[in-house]
Amino acid sequence: MKWVVLVGFMGAGKSTIGKELAKSLKIPFVDSDQLIEEQQGKSISELFETIGEDAFRKLEAQLIRSLNVDDPMVIAVGGGLPVYHNNMEFLNGNGLTIYLNHEPEVLVERLAADRFHRPLVSNLSKVDLLKFVQQSIQERNAFYKKAKIILSTDQQHIPFILQSIRNLLG
Ligand code: S3P
Repeated sequence: MKWVVLVGFMGAGKSTIGKELAKSLKIPFVDSDQLIEEQQGKSISELFETIGEDAFRKLEAQLIRSLNVDDPMVIAVGGGLPVYHNNMEFLNGNGLTIYLNHEPEVLVERLAADRFHRPLVSNLSKVDLLKFVQQSIQERNAFYKKAKIILSTDQQHIPFILQSIRNLLG
């Protein structure tokens, strides 16, 4: 199995860590949101507005299934992708899945400043954001926790997380 797949809630650091990890492993990095935006010629917010969330979830499912399972790569998937279309089963069948697990409070701090391009949270006040994150994580944890490895990363800096993942990869 040649893929390393990072899953977790919005703001978990999947893209930042994924990019660094791919660089240090000298393999390509793929970000599902970014690829969908490039392929569709629209931002995620525009896609939610024009085609709607269900169609976006189908694009996500198609996208991961269009990647070559024999090519080594690090893949950061959108925060909702694990929840739909049996995507966790597919990803677990083709790669080492890692859940970057954070406390809701930590995610809210990160998302508060960076929520405007994320349609599910762009209109929420900080108080509502905490409620939304707490509730969504509760619902999504059943899916996220199907990952082969769960890394609780709240107190850890990126270099430490990267080293932990590299150690796991051996
Ligand atoms: C979503 C997460 C986003 C993006 C979309 C929906 C979600 O990805 O796919 O806004 O449902 O959690 P990131 O986790 O990369 O922000």
